[in-house]
Amino acid sequence: MTQKIIIDTDPGIDDAMAIHMAFADPRLDIVGMTTIFGNVRTDQATRNALHLAEMAHYDLTVAAGATVPMVRNPEPPADFVHGPEGFGALPAATISKAADSRGAAQFLCEACAAAPGEIIIAAVGPLTNLAAALDQDPQIAHTVKEVVIMGGSAARHGNVSDCAEANIWNDPDAADAVFAAPWKVTMVGLDVTEKTQCTPDDFAVLAQASPVIGGFLQKAADFYFDFHENKTGQRICFMHDPSAILAITDPQIFGFENAAITVTCGGEELGRTVIHADDDTGRPAVRIAMTVDSAAARDRFLSLIASADEQAGQRAR
Ligand code: BDR
Ligand code: CA
Repeated sequence: MTQKIIIDTDPGIDDAMAIHMAFADPRLDIVGMTTIFGNVRTDQATRNALHLAEMAHYDLTVAAGATVPMVRNPEPPADFVHGPEGFGALPAATISKAADSRGAAQFLCEACAAAPGEIIIAAVGPLTNLAAALDQDPQIAHTVKEVVIMGGSAARHGNVSDCAEANIWNDPDAADAVFAAPWKVTMVGLDVTEKTQCTPDDFAVLAQASPVIGGFLQKAADFYFDFHENKTGQRICFMHDPSAILAITDPQIFGFENAAITVTCGGEELGRTVIHADDDTGRPAVRIAMTVDSAAARDRFLSLIASADEQAGQRAR
């Protein structure tokens, strides 16, 4: 039995790592990708998602999402982390397929309604599309199986400010609406995503094992290593978005706690995910990843990407 997922994404270097890992995992059936601004503009995210699918010969729907946050003005794309086109120093790709005629929110609602209880949405960018889907059809909260988010932090630390993580900070109002809705949500935040790390040597091995997809990730990741080296002093990278996919395929490598979450939507702590251990909010409890076996997470990522070209070749036949 494969698990159906839709990946809501702003590709993005670690998004590309997560997406290629998901494509290579025979336990997953990726029925679509929906795109969002964040690391890049939404039009770039859509082009990049189509490019990743073509590279892996993966036949799926790509639907373009919102171009601005729900309420506030957009922040500039994170080109200092992901490069001007999203994949480090690599130029914009030429693609041969077009996005679906439906927008992301409509696609999410229709896909979940067509397969009630079967689809997990893995949201690894700002949550504007998910909030728009809730607005468009509140029933999605009951037709989706689960929503797994890369975003936020339980331990009150951030990566764009002292207390805000980038995906939440880019649209805090949308994130708050997502945590308030009556669906099952798992939050995979900085508490675990910064603990799983890869090195340039890892990507050199991947480029040998899977020259097309591993080679592409190695080239894209160079820029990402520069960013992390400036920030941490070490030539490593944090495995943010792959961690959210691993929480679906390999939940046993994480330790979870349950608590309601609200998002601070103004003031100095804008974008903070506030954990309510005493459940005083009336909101559903979110399953929050608090610990990870980072060696197991890294190994799973590396072994799946090592097999990515072979899997793509089989799909091309
Ligand atoms: C998140 O922000 C983006 O830069 C990454 O792709 C990831 O989804 C990490 O804070
Ligand atoms: Ca992302």
